[in-house]
Amino acid sequence: MPELAYVNGLVTPVDEARVSIEDRGFQFSDGIYEVVRTHNGGFIDLERHLARLERSATMLDLALPMPLPELERVSREFYAQSALPEAIFYLQVTRGAAPRRHTAPPGLTPTLVMTVRAITQPPPERYTAITVPNNRWKLCACKSIGLLPAVLAKHAALRAGADEAVFVEDGLVLEGASDNFFAVKDGVVYTPDTDGRILAGVTRERVLEQLAERGARVEVGPLPLELARSADEAFITSSVLTVVPIVALDGRPVGDGRPGPVTGRAREDYWDFIRRTTA
Ligand SMILES: Cc1ncc(COP(=O)(O)O)c(C=O)c1O
Repeated sequence: MPELAYVNGLVTPVDEARVSIEDRGFQFSDGIYEVVRTHNGGFIDLERHLARLERSATMLDLALPMPLPELERVSREFYAQSALPEAIFYLQVTRGAAPRRHTAPPGLTPTLVMTVRAITQPPPERYTAITVPNNRWKLCACKSIGLLPAVLAKHAALRAGADEAVFVEDGLVLEGASDNFFAVKDGVVYTPDTDGRILAGVTRERVLEQLAERGARVEVGPLPLELARSADEAFITSSVLTVVPIVALDGRPVGDGRPGPVTGRAREDYWDFIRRTTA
């Protein structure tokens, strides 16, 4: 079965899918998206992802193409057609296609694009990261398709021989270019709050719930770069990566430079959850 795309109801192989050059996603990055992992033929936290999609839409005053329950049904039906048990499901909504003008005409039909791509490799065992100044806009709680700062940050990481870039502002670590950041020091797990400067990651939320279930000491709030630099462990979370240890930051080892036990347990707990929820 080929990797499939869905564009406003039309399902095709991915390389045959088309949208208009007048689409406001293409012209203005005027859209939002979600990325959902699947395992064993089932979605991981689809409801939470769609709830966030709705919050992103509200932030941009963007109409969703259909009510959320229907969007969930359409997503599930489309994914079922792919017959790919381990996949990355991508969903994007833009404000629609119209002659290029900043103001969108009223009543525009939103463009709904979905794809299903196979996952061919397990998540990485470890990552290295660099820090970069946070040069993003102020609506980082919105999962906008306008990702140029994240793209440039990833390019900078690649040039530095690292795997990921982490945004830093006012001496505080915010989040990775496409993931949330955690540090562990003296048995306490630290992660920044969802104060609008980061995306409220669905994986972050699950990991925090699991840490609470284990009775871990967790501090959600400002995470100084100095604390991250002197941490015993650090890790990132995302739907694509799940939980991945950060073993070096800006060329210096984090802790002893190896994945630590708290991170290992968080990753195992998250994968247990993945297996349970899709059994
Ligand atoms: C900036 C940013 N932060 C965090 C995340 C992680 O979010 P989630 O766990 O919902 O995949 C992403 C995912 O794409 C992201 O782009």
